[in-house]
Amino acid sequence: MFYVYTLIAIVWLLLLSWAVYKVVFGYMLPPAHFPKNLPTIPFYYALLPLLKDVDQEDLWHKYLKEPLTQHGAVKIYFGGAWNILVTRPAYINQVLKQDEVFPKAGNHIKNPNSILALYTGENIISTINDQWRGFAAIVKPGLQADVDTSIIIRNAEKLVDLLLDEQQRNATVVMPRPLQDYTLANLSEALLGSSFDTLGNPNAPLSKLQSEIKPHIFNPFYLNFPMLERWFKIPSREEARKLVLNFKRQLCEKVLEGHKHEHPKGMEESHLGCRLVTAYRSGMISRYHFQQNCLSMFLAGHENPQILLLSMMRMLAEHQTLQQQLREHILALSPEDQANPHALAEIPLLTATIYETLRLYPPISQLLNRRTEEDVMLGDEVLLRKGTYVGYNGYTTNRDQEFWGPDSHEFRPSRWGDNCEDIQLLFRKASAKSTFISFHGGRRTCLGIKFAMMGARLSVATFLRNMEWKLDPTWPRRMTPAGPLMPKMLRLQFTRLEKS
Ligand code: HEM
Repeated sequence: MFYVYTLIAIVWLLLLSWAVYKVVFGYMLPPAHFPKNLPTIPFYYALLPLLKDVDQEDLWHKYLKEPLTQHGAVKIYFGGAWNILVTRPAYINQVLKQDEVFPKAGNHIKNPNSILALYTGENIISTINDQWRGFAAIVKPGLQADVDTSIIIRNAEKLVDLLLDEQQRNATVVMPRPLQDYTLANLSEALLGSSFDTLGNPNAPLSKLQSEIKPHIFNPFYLNFPMLERWFKIPSREEARKLVLNFKRQLCEKVLEGHKHEHPKGMEESHLGCRLVTAYRSGMISRYHFQQNCLSMFLAGHENPQILLLSMMRMLAEHQTLQQQLREHILALSPEDQANPHALAEIPLLTATIYETLRLYPPISQLLNRRTEEDVMLGDEVLLRKGTYVGYNGYTTNRDQEFWGPDSHEFRPSRWGDNCEDIQLLFRKASAKSTFISFHGGRRTCLGIKFAMMGARLSVATFLRNMEWKLDPTWPRRMTPAGPLMPKMLRLQFTRLEKS
C-alpha cells in the first residue's frame, strides 16, 4: 500500500511541477529564443490594471519610457503572448516596409478562440496578400470618394444642441457617449448610407450594444489572458460571445436595410455602403466577410474619430488661447466657407492642431498585430526568430526627441509650421521616417485618412462657432487604464455663443 501512495504522490508532484514550469516559463518569462539584448518589461506590468485603478500615461512613465527610449524595443507580455514592442523609428520603418517578413497576424491568428477574434475576425485591416487585395479593391474607392458633407454639418449642429441641453440639465457633460453617438451617425449616414439613428437616441440598438460590448472587449483581464476563454466556459464570457454575435447580425441587417432600393447607375462605383452590399449580393464576398468588413468599417470609422475628438476637445479646453484663435480663424470665413471642408483645410492652425493631437495621443496608441515570417535582423543587432509577435507603441515613437526636439512631450501645434505647404511637408516627412505613426504607415497606411481629417475639421469648426468649452474642474484628469488611450470619462462645461 505504501508503494501505491508513494507512486500517486510522485505523479502529483510531477504534474504540479509541470504546471508550475508551464506558468513560470510559458507565460511569466519571455521564450528562450527571444533576443537577449533587449530588456524585459516585467510580467506583472500586464496585471496592474487588474489590481488597481491605473492611468496608462502614468504606467508608461513608470515602466516603459526609460527602456523604450534607451533600447528602442522591449520584450512585453500582452494579448496572451510575449511580443517585441518596437518604438525606434528606424525599426518601425523596417517593420512597415518589409511587409512580407512582418505580415499582419491579428486576433484571429493570435488567439483564434477569443471573443476579440470572434468580434474582429478576417477583414480588410487584419488580412494579408490576395484576401486583403480583394477587400481593398472593394473598400478603397469607397473611402476615397467624396461624401455628402452636409450630413456631417447637420449632425454636428444637432450634437451642439444636445451638449448644450445636457449642460443646462447637469452643469457638466460626460463626453464619450455623445461623441460615440455622433461619430456613429456620421459613419453610418455619410459612408455606409444607412442610418443607425444614434444621435440623441439613448436607446439606439447598435450604440447601446456597442457600449455594452466595449467593457467586455477591453477587459484588461481577458485582453491579457485570452487563453482562459479557451480553457474554461466562463458564464460572463459566454454572455459576451452572445452579445457580439447579436451585434454583428444587427449591424449587417442595418447596412443591408439602407440598401433595399435600386441604386442609381454608377452609385456602386463610389459609395462605401453600396460597394460592400453589391460585393456581397453578387457573391464576390461571403456573408461572413461582408459581416466582418462592415464591422471593421464600423470600428475604424467611429472609434478612432471619437477618440481624436475626445483628445482634441480636451486639448482645446486646456489651451483656451488656442481655442479662441481657432474660433477667430473660422469666424473670419464667409458663412458658406465655415461649412466647406476645402476652405477649412486652408486654415493651417486647424490642421496643425489635429496633427499635434494625433501625435501626442494616437487613438491606436499600441498595436501588436504582426508576426515574423522568417528569422530576421531588426536593425543591425536584434535577431528575431520566425514566429515572433511584433508591434509598436505610437505614443512613444510620436514623441521621438531626435526628430521632434527636446519639447516633444509638449502640445505645440506651431511645431508643424504656419502654412499649409510646410505642414503637409512635415506630415509626409514624419510619416515616411515613421516618426508619426498614428495612421500606421507603409503599404497598410490607414485608408480612412481623408474621411477622418474632413470629419475632424468640420466637427471642430462647427463646435467652435457655436460654443465655448472648458474642463469641468472636478474632472480628475485621468486617462483610460487599458485599451485605447483617451481621457477617461472626460467631463466638459459648455457655453453657447450668441450669433453676432
Ligand atoms: C483619427 C482617425 C483614424 C486613425 C488615427 C486611424 C488609424 C489607423 C491605424 C493605426 C490603422 C492600422 C490598424 C491595424 O493595423 O490594425 C488603420 C487602418 C485602417 N483604417 Fe484607419 N484610422 C482613422 C480613421 C479611419 C476611418 C474614419 C476609416 C474609415 C471608415 C478608417 C479605415 C481604415 C482602414 C480600412 C484601415 C486598413 C488599411 C489596410 O490595412 O489596408 N480609418 N487606421
